[in-house]
Order: sequence, then structure tokens, then C-alpha cells
Amino acid sequence: MSLSGKYFLETYGCQMNEHDSEKMCELMEQLGMESGDSADNADVVIINTCAIREKAEHKVHSSLGKIKNAKLKNPDMVIVVAGCVAQQQHYELSKKFHHLDLVLGTHNISELPELVEKIRKDRQRVIRVDFSEDISSLHMLAPKRGPRPICSYVTIMQGCSNFCAYCVVPYTRGREQSRNLGEILEEVPQLCSKGVKEITLLGQNVNAYGKDLGNGNRFTELLEELSRIPGLDRIRFTTSHPRDFDASVATALGSLDKVCEHVHLPLQSGSDRILSSMRRGYSFSEYLDKIDILRSEAPGCSITTDIIVGFPGESDDDFKSTLTALEQIRFDQIFSFKFSSRPGTKAEHMADQIPEEVKKGRLAEVHTIQDRITQGYHKQLEGSVLEVLLEGHGRQNQLYGRTRTNKIVNFNDNAGYPVGAIVQVKILRGLNHSLFGEIAY
Ligand code: SAH
Ligand code: SF4
Ligand code: F3S
Repeated sequence: MSLSGKYFLETYGCQMNEHDSEKMCELMEQLGMESGDSADNADVVIINTCAIREKAEHKVHSSLGKIKNAKLKNPDMVIVVAGCVAQQQHYELSKKFHHLDLVLGTHNISELPELVEKIRKDRQRVIRVDFSEDISSLHMLAPKRGPRPICSYVTIMQGCSNFCAYCVVPYTRGREQSRNLGEILEEVPQLCSKGVKEITLLGQNVNAYGKDLGNGNRFTELLEELSRIPGLDRIRFTTSHPRDFDASVATALGSLDKVCEHVHLPLQSGSDRILSSMRRGYSFSEYLDKIDILRSEAPGCSITTDIIVGFPGESDDDFKSTLTALEQIRFDQIFSFKFSSRPGTKAEHMADQIPEEVKKGRLAEVHTIQDRITQGYHKQLEGSVLEVLLEGHGRQNQLYGRTRTNKIVNFNDNAGYPVGAIVQVKILRGLNHSLFGEIAY
């Protein structure tokens, strides 16, 4: 197979989607195509989409609208929509956008080159969205690219079987499937031999790693095995699910040097009534118990979370419980969202949908509280010296990297440390979303 010319890839969505985009870039380059910087003069345009909220889903409509003229000028152009919207809305998309050539589902990424070549040859439109049983073809090695060359994602689980009432992921990514331990342990040393120093293990529910393979939960075993790989400095993982997060992970975090002290543990709501209606599988007090274990086993660990405001039926009191939870737990950082009704989910037809204005007001309240808490943490760090993995060169000759607790640090350096070095940085200023410092000699 070979094709010349330029491809352009537009991507949005979660880290899993970013990782899929990296794989698609690699496949296009293996095919002989070069990456271009604009859709207008590309021979192949790939839009990798996210369906998590309505706003994300709508992006693909405007991207496809914008590209219509370019395709009129260059009728040989191949337009591909991949990712979660492709998986869920394949019929609607191909019906609405006649210039769309290929709709590629989340389990069909490895078929991208052969399908693009076929379309270039016979100009037939293709929809390929079958969920496959064997997930190994999805996880061939992705090269390192982009602005963080020494950091790599490693998929350990595909899909999700939790069916939280608001969420499309089980429909767009299929059921939870863990990758074989052996395959992961083969991939990571290869990444390290290419200069990777930090990996982030990806899965919708990493704490259930291995359960579906039939040998019980093997997540901590995976962390222990990965810790032994020479050349690898840091191990991160996301996302943890509070229902499956247990003391063994907290202990591993406290005892394995390479495992970084950061857990993203999405709470979603502080109200038991709402948590139950969301089908999250834990109560607020059970969540608090996990936080206590984590803080006692791994002191100093940073904890981040996701919050949804305005889930159907969320009363003022329910919402107040969420605000109280934020004050009580004091997360390092949060990602907060207005509930967005998604097609096919249980919450889509729930009674008592919350008006947009109320959601907006609640989101603003959440931001005010959390900004104060995050800034407080950042201010507290002023004057301290933190271990930072140097990831790249940013603006104004500054360098940037992350602390073990996943805080972004911009810093000055005259010593010329190479990307990938672990350096000690003195924090001079705690800003709203990042830290600023200088190399500590
Ligand atoms: N697997 C992870 C989350 C994946 S989606 C977990 O279970 O926690 C990332 C975040 O998007 C979720 O944690 C949730 O806060 C948010 N989200 C998902 N569906 C949403 C919806 N319909 N409306 C608003 N936010 C949503
Ligand atoms: Fe969605 Fe829930 Fe699965 Fe997370 S655990 S991906 S929120 S269904
Ligand atoms: Fe979006 Fe799909 Fe990820 S819906 S959040 S790209 S799993």
C-alpha cells in the first residue's frame, strides 16, 4: 500500500481519542503521506471526534461544513470522520454530509490506510463501525509525536461497561476489555528505547484492569511489573473509578517510586440521591473513605476530580452537597461540566431536566469555590523545591514540565538541561492554573 500527498488531522476529546489520533497519524505516514497544516490543501482530511457532550458532538458538523468548499475545488480529497461521533451517528452523518467519504468507528482504526486507498481508487463511500472481539489490532505501537515527546499514553483497557446514566462511552467505545498484561509489558520497554520517560496508562476504569480477563483485579500487579522497567521514570494512570478504587492502589502509590502521586477520581456529585440516579455505584461517604485511605497511604498525593452540575432532578440541596464536598475534600483541581443530554443514555428521558440558566449559575459557583482552593494550593507551594520532568521548551525561552503531582511548571534555566531530564525547580509563583519557578542549584 502506498499513497503520496498530504493528510490533515483535526482532533478533540479525551486522552484516549488523542492517542487514537497519534495512531492514525502513524498509519497515514506508513502509507507514505505527510502531515499538512491545513485542511484546505490536504488530500486526506481526518476529523477524530468526541460525543461526550452536545457541544463536542456539534464541532464535527461545523468542521464538515467548513471543508465543503475545499472538496469542491479538489474532488479527489478523501474526508474521514472517526471517533465517538462516527461510531454513534454514522448513519446521520453520512446522510447529511454527501462529501463525507469514510465513517470510521472506534474499533476500526487499523483499517484506515486500506480504506483510504480503496476510496481514492473507486470513489465509493464507506461506513465501517463494527465492534471487534479482538482488541490487539487497536493497540499497535504508536510513535511519539507532538509537544511532549518523552511522555506516552499506553492503553490498558478499551471501552466501558458501567453505563452511568449520563454517559455515551459504553455505546461509542464498546464494553470494557482489558489488554493482556504481556502485551503491555512488551510495548512499554519499546517506548522507553525510543526515549519515553513517562507513561500514562489509559482506561475508563483502570482500577478494574484484568477483571474481564478472568483472573481478578490485576491493576496493582501491572503497576509493580511496570515499575521494574529500566529507563522508565514515571508512571501515571487515568481514570480511576471510585467504586473500584481500593486500598491496594493507594498502597502501591505510596510504595512504588515510579508511580506518581496523583489520582484522578471523578466524584460527579456530592449528593447520594444524585449519585444513585447517575448509577455511579458509591455513596458520598464511601467516596470519602477512599480519599482518607489515599491520603494516609500516600501523603501529599494530589487528587483531582470531575463534577457534573444540573443532572436531571438535581435540587438546590443536592447541589449544595456538591459545594460542601468541594470544600471538605479540597481537590487540587477539578473539571466541571453542565449536564448535557446524550442520545441513547438513561438520563436522556429522565424527568425534571434542569434549565440551562440554572446549570450555568451552578457551574459558575463551582468555579468560584474551586479556583480559590486551587490557587491556595499553588500559593502554598511558593518557596518549595519540586521534582520536575522537563518535557519541552515553551514560550520566551522558558522550559516546562510537570511535578510528580501533575502540576504544570514553567521555569527558567540557563544550564541547558535536555528534554527528559529530571530537575529540581524552586517555585517562585503559584499562578491560577500553573506554577512558575527556576532551576534550584
Ligand atoms: N470514565 C471516567 C470519565 C469519562 S468521561 C469516569 O467514569 O469517571 C469524562 C467526564 O465527562 C466524566 O467524568 C463526566 O464528568 C463528564 N461527562 C460525561 N458525560 C457527560 C454528560 N452527558 N454531560 C456532562 N458531562 C459529562
Ligand atoms: Fe462513562 Fe461511567 Fe464509563 Fe466513566 S465509568 S466512561 S462516566 S459510563
Ligand atoms: Fe469523548 Fe469518546 Fe473520549 S466521547 S471523552 S472521545 S471516549
